[in-house]
Amino acid sequence: MSLCETFHPPSRLGLEFRGPTETGKGRRLLELASRSLPERVRDAAERAADAGFELSSEPGIGRAIMTLAAAVRPGGRVLEIGTGMGVGTAWLIQGLAARADVELVTIESDPKRARLAAEANWPGYVQPVIGDVLVEIGRLGLFSLVFADAEGGKLYGLDLTLAAVDLHGILVLDDMRFQGRSPAIEEGVVRVRRQLMADDRFVCVEMNWSSGLLVATRVR
Ligand SMILES: C[S@@+](CC[C@H](N)C(=O)[O-])C[C@H]1O[C@@H](n2cnc3c(N)ncnc32)[C@H](O)[C@@H]1O
Repeated sequence: MSLCETFHPPSRLGLEFRGPTETGKGRRLLELASRSLPERVRDAAERAADAGFELSSEPGIGRAIMTLAAAVRPGGRVLEIGTGMGVGTAWLIQGLAARADVELVTIESDPKRARLAAEANWPGYVQPVIGDVLVEIGRLGLFSLVFADAEGGKLYGLDLTLAAVDLHGILVLDDMRFQGRSPAIEEGVVRVRRQLMADDRFVCVEMNWSSGLLVATRVR
């Protein structure tokens, strides 16, 4: 029996980069939101908008992972699954700041995206990996914070991701709110929630925040 519960916090920012979008919405919302975004996040979001990439993390998710990254233990390692255009990476860097004792591995299966994202001026502790997380994760070691933001490693292959979370490490899953996506995805989300909540190695909480967060801490 796991110690999971559901928490419904107050409303979110309402400024989204993700989700079903009509042409130009990403750019318009970026313009609306950009005044409150850290510079490196804004740069990545602009790169995403220029490339027509609309799957970048919303600012609410970004601020959540930034906050958790800022708490990573000394010598800790962070994994982002799905670099996209580097918006989540930028938020994680914002939290890790100028630390010299950490490592941030970000993995992306699309080489073109990975290359564009890496045009950002990332600190030396960022290690981009190009490849399928399901193939690569076994050799990447353990992590204090994992942001699983790709179908691989979340909707399928979750076991591999769970195994990569260090004791007392934290796993963040986003896009866990029902969003009317394809049945395969929505059913996958339900399956993932059930799997994680039944896993007694983790305590977890669901948050109706931004695109929907599930945060789990490994306790054994
Ligand atoms: C939702 S986007 C990531 C957004 C990014 N994390 C952010 O916060 O802005 C998901 C990304 O995961 C990548 N991806 C999908 N399956 C993958 C896999 N099996 N291994 C690595 N990357 C994958 C996709 O190419 C896509 O760029």
